[in-house]
Amino acid sequence: MSNAQLLARRNAAVPRGVASATAVFAVKAENAEIWDAEGKRYLDFAAGIAVCNTGHRHPRVMAAAAVQSEAFVHTAFQVLPYETYVALAERLNELAPIKHAKTILMTTGAEAVENAVKIARHYTKRPAVISFVGGFHGRSLLTMGMTGKVVPYKTGFGPFPASLYHIPFPLEHHGVSVQDSLDALERLFKADVEPSQVAAIILEPVQGEGGFYIAPKEFMQALRVLCDKHGILLICDEVQTGFARTGKLFATEYFDIEPDLMTIAKSLAGGYPLSGVIGKAEIMDSPDPGGLGGTYGGSPLGCAAAHAVLDVIEEEQLCARSLCIGKRMVERIQQMKEHPQSAAIGDIRGLGAMVAFELVTERGGHNPDPEKVKQLTAKALQNGLVLLSCGIYANTIRLLAPLTTPDAQIEEGLDILAKSLREIN
Ligand SMILES: Cc1ncc(COP(=O)(O)O)c(C=O)c1O
Repeated sequence: MSNAQLLARRNAAVPRGVASATAVFAVKAENAEIWDAEGKRYLDFAAGIAVCNTGHRHPRVMAAAAVQSEAFVHTAFQVLPYETYVALAERLNELAPIKHAKTILMTTGAEAVENAVKIARHYTKRPAVISFVGGFHGRSLLTMGMTGKVVPYKTGFGPFPASLYHIPFPLEHHGVSVQDSLDALERLFKADVEPSQVAAIILEPVQGEGGFYIAPKEFMQALRVLCDKHGILLICDEVQTGFARTGKLFATEYFDIEPDLMTIAKSLAGGYPLSGVIGKAEIMDSPDPGGLGGTYGGSPLGCAAAHAVLDVIEEEQLCARSLCIGKRMVERIQQMKEHPQSAAIGDIRGLGAMVAFELVTERGGHNPDPEKVKQLTAKALQNGLVLLSCGIYANTIRLLAPLTTPDAQIEEGLDILAKSLREIN
């Protein structure tokens, strides 16, 4: 069946609210390559939205899941627990930049964030949560409220849960300094909510959907001091940044701070749905038995896959590989920016292999060009490369190639990107 026929069926059977970035229907995937319903091959620089850091169907991950499925696939950890969950918690507690940690496992990123807020509220006995403009924390009612972007995530879905506040994220090149953000927080404390009512401040160490903006180290450190001063918990949302994507296992490690809680998901289990909250043991143990959980939380297949993912990250040295891929991507995009026939590229930024660049209306300028981004993703797809856009101004392209992508395919993908940038100019 052709992509067009499948699209017609999709449109008739599936609501438009769940938008797909492409009209390409996948039938097979292997590491960084995907084949569609018409047999066309693509390089995948989206990695299922940062889920396949270890590539599609890594043999170690597949083998671990196969072994687990021979034993059992579901008992519900709340009914009959199993060792792989416990062992994964032990492993994550050791790996996370938190002393004396405990870990609870769930299924999706939004669920991890919801649980982090529940735990923070229970521990602090306070209601309010502060997040950031441009931040993304999910699509469930609470996490949508915490997300700092209206269109398309919040339009028509109000009213939003109470006690959620937003302050600007420091974005130097859009005119928001670290001091501006800290001042906004102080203003919030004066105008809207007293600090003694704030349970948590949550942020992504590198904003994902917001446009791959790296939190300045001094900002993270200032937040840590402020949180300690007011008894507020600091939550790092590592759902998109985790598991070697930025060149460290967790991006938080770049900032020399200890968060109180961390949310994880996406690349944790190489494509199997698994998420979690890692946090200081005393805080994690606050909710009473039965207050946390979910039928599928920490599924046996997810846990088995996650153990294999952690092995692969270590054995294939994917943190070092991430830095190497990131460096090469930034170098090549810089060359594309200087190419006279290329569409106008603005800011280029990244941490490890979490790389993004903006398209702007004129060379040397800052004015966002979201229309060109649409043209570029469509052209790249036509040329055999899956790309994702992001950013509060919808003018950013994010590159999330699997960290297991061979050098030749990184170059091939970047060649397609360069060609597509020339073709849309
Ligand atoms: C930083 C961050 N938090 C939370 C989420 C929500 O995760 P999920 O879509 O698995 O619910 C995402 C998803 O993109 C994310 O990037």
